[in-house]
Amino acid sequence: MARIRFYGGKGGVGKTTVAAAQAEVLSSSGPTLLVSTDPAHNLSDLFDISAGSEITTLHANLDLLEIDPEQEARRYLDEVKANIREHVRPALLDEVHRHIDMAYYSPGANESALFDRLTRLILDESAEYEHIIFDTAPTGHTLRLITLPEMMGMWVDGLIGRRSSLQKDSPQWVRDVPEQSDPVLEKLKERKARFSQVREILVDANKTGFWFVANPEKLSLLETQRAVKDLLDHRIPVKGIIINKVLSGLPEGDFFSKRAEAQKPYISKLKRIKGVKTKLELPLLERDIADQATFRQICRLLHDAV
Ligand SMILES: Nc1ncnc2c1ncn2[C@@H]1O[C@H](COP(=O)(O)OP(=O)(O)O)[C@@H](O)[C@H]1O
Ligand SMILES: [Mg+2]
Repeated sequence: MARIRFYGGKGGVGKTTVAAAQAEVLSSSGPTLLVSTDPAHNLSDLFDISAGSEITTLHANLDLLEIDPEQEARRYLDEVKANIREHVRPALLDEVHRHIDMAYYSPGANESALFDRLTRLILDESAEYEHIIFDTAPTGHTLRLITLPEMMGMWVDGLIGRRSSLQKDSPQWVRDVPEQSDPVLEKLKERKARFSQVREILVDANKTGFWFVANPEKLSLLETQRAVKDLLDHRIPVKGIIINKVLSGLPEGDFFSKRAEAQKPYISKLKRIKGVKTKLELPLLERDIADQATFRQICRLLHDAV
């Protein structure tokens, strides 16, 4: 079973850079899949390729997948329509389809479709990889995604309860089916079981590691402190914090040496965050990570640090 790593943090701190470099480093030890769940996909830009919603091979040991939540939501609802066809009276099918189409625009639809794709990835498609690295969207989005199994579990429980009582009252829109073989109820129970399985994998420190990328700045510090606490409150272990874009070794009096001084208290506060064992520093490089040479430089730094 693949080991999973998530990289979270504020926009612009270096999640995509660090996740991609870490995937590159790990791929030397076994087949690795790098997945983006950020709707603003940057991985294909970074690697200068056009990856789609299917798994693309970057090189022998490294695959890439950019999940498009909107496309997943569409695909998911089409599947629901196909599934429901046999359980609904034909005369009501149009009406039911209209309701399903409306679900596409409802709050949380993209997230739950994204989560469904993640579930498939983690439970059904992970066997051939040794490492799966997630480059995630900015923090709030990721936290919701990770706490989704719990929420969806409760939501499905509610549906199961409603479905059971509905069946007793024999509603007009559902075809009569004997209680012991209710296919809708079976599907719901199956979904719930899969969500619990994913959750178990996510909270198991031997299988999953959460990493935060932070910059030595006030807003990134505050957000990292909050996010780490949120995850720990949900019993999700946090493996490490990567303090990225650190300035050092600059001549005194220089504008950048003042910036470096300003970074110091934030670095020490990031290092003091409780409940997280590993804290690493990565320097701010002379230029952004836009070519192979600088990307390799980040890979080497990470390789030496971990
Ligand atoms: N250590 C670093 N030194 C120099 N530039 C960096 C470093 N880390 C990231 N960058 C640059 O910062 C910008 C944001 O990084 P990115 O990885 O896209 O952040 P995120 O995915 O968190 O939004 C990019 O232009 C990237 O090249
Ligand atoms: Mg990014």
